[in-house]
Amino acid sequence: MTFGCQMNKYDSLLAEGRFCKAGYATTDRIDEADVVLFNTCSVRDHAEERTYSWLGELKRAKEKRPDLVVGVMGCMAQRVGEEIFSRAGHVDLVAGTRQFASLPALVDQVLDSRTAGQRARVVALGMDDELSLDRSGEPWPGGLHAYLTVMRGCDLNCTYCIVPTVRGRVLSYPIEHLVREARGYVEQGARAITLLGQTVNSYGEDVPAPAAGERRWSGRQGRPGLADLLRELQQVDGLERIRLITAHPSYVTEALAEALRDCDKCERFLPLPAQSGSDTVLRAMKRGYTTELYRRRMEMLRARVPDVELGSDWIVGFPGETDADFHASEAFLSEQGFAVNYVFKYSPRPGTGAAERLADDVPEDVKKERNQRMLRRSEESALKRHSAHVGSVRRAFVESTSDRGPGVVLGRTQHGLAVSFAGGDDLLGRTVDVRIESATAFGLSGSRATP
Ligand code: SAH
Ligand code: SF4
Ligand code: F3S
Repeated sequence: MTFGCQMNKYDSLLAEGRFCKAGYATTDRIDEADVVLFNTCSVRDHAEERTYSWLGELKRAKEKRPDLVVGVMGCMAQRVGEEIFSRAGHVDLVAGTRQFASLPALVDQVLDSRTAGQRARVVALGMDDELSLDRSGEPWPGGLHAYLTVMRGCDLNCTYCIVPTVRGRVLSYPIEHLVREARGYVEQGARAITLLGQTVNSYGEDVPAPAAGERRWSGRQGRPGLADLLRELQQVDGLERIRLITAHPSYVTEALAEALRDCDKCERFLPLPAQSGSDTVLRAMKRGYTTELYRRRMEMLRARVPDVELGSDWIVGFPGETDADFHASEAFLSEQGFAVNYVFKYSPRPGTGAAERLADDVPEDVKKERNQRMLRRSEESALKRHSAHVGSVRRAFVESTSDRGPGVVLGRTQHGLAVSFAGGDDLLGRTVDVRIESATAFGLSGSRATP
């Protein structure tokens, strides 16, 4: 079972592949399973509490079937380590974020100890566990869409954030391996690929600059950058769509803007979390930019890709956030016109700079109210952005059939916005022209434009 972000989903697939190679098969049913693994998230306290409550459920299952193996992997496992046993004594295995390759072997350790009449608790939290860099031939569950983690970890140090602690330093995978992996997914039927990284547009910053005579790329001092990866993937026959999760404002370069402009397989949508619209708060968060810098980057981007749509995450109730700071966030959201927004109430994470040095001094009811207000702002802004597409014809990639009724399909426009329209299964995986007829804050609807 997977909690947390898309990276965890991808890691769960990697783990699944390792188990399949070791002779296991997967099941959705706990009563059929011999091993239950939770891939966990630690980004907010709530995420960890949900895992504990699921672990509580498993306790009952294990009372009935003591031979069940219960494991916890991923970000919360990395953060909490063996202390998980003190709150959930029935857990057998705790494995960190870079251990998935050895998971089957770790489960074997648990089983071997049982055969020997003992009950070993296995803990594996090493961060430099060998990560096979060449991932071609990775398993993939089928369907039209595949994830591709292009870099692991995060080298920034936002003061509220647990991710660098649990995910470790950045490791970018080599371009040629990523292209090969993407080709593999497309050969198996994928038509859309989402490139994943905590700061996906800093891709390549961690690799050494090329030596004299080696190929030079678009990144800093000739390093490979996300722009290069996009241009390479644009060439992959059969691939229709490329999406990005998540970009960081500090790495929005001209090379990236030009790649977005030139590569029509790339959605013209950048998730570019601002987090706050107050410079005081941004400084306390150590986000590495001011609102002015953010604005200037967006001007540069929009000069090259005028119709780019943006998404953002926001944290409300960060320590010290005053009413004026909060209003600045509301104003910045409206000013930049974000089409998709996620709003979170600040949750102190043990060991982070903010939790150690700053009091969590915004009362819960104020956080709640700001959260509500920010969501209303977000809806206004999203409705405006979506409405701007009404009346135009957009290229839409068809992803799924709608559960709203037969004969309706769901897709994404070239700007990454959700769109529904009448159509049959035969459209799945194809890119078609859609006339946009109406908009809500959450998506568009229209009908097929006859060419
Ligand atoms: N790498 C991404 C974010 C990853 S975490 C980036 O830099 O934008 C996803 C989102 O969770 C963040 O954008 C932030 O808005 C939110 N978040 C992270 N830590 C949080 C915390 N301690 N409390 C509340 N929200 C948090
Ligand atoms: Fe966390 Fe900041 Fe890194 Fe995003 S960029 S993962 S918010 S430390
Ligand atoms: Fe959560 Fe880890 Fe993702 S903390 S948000 S699962 S990187």
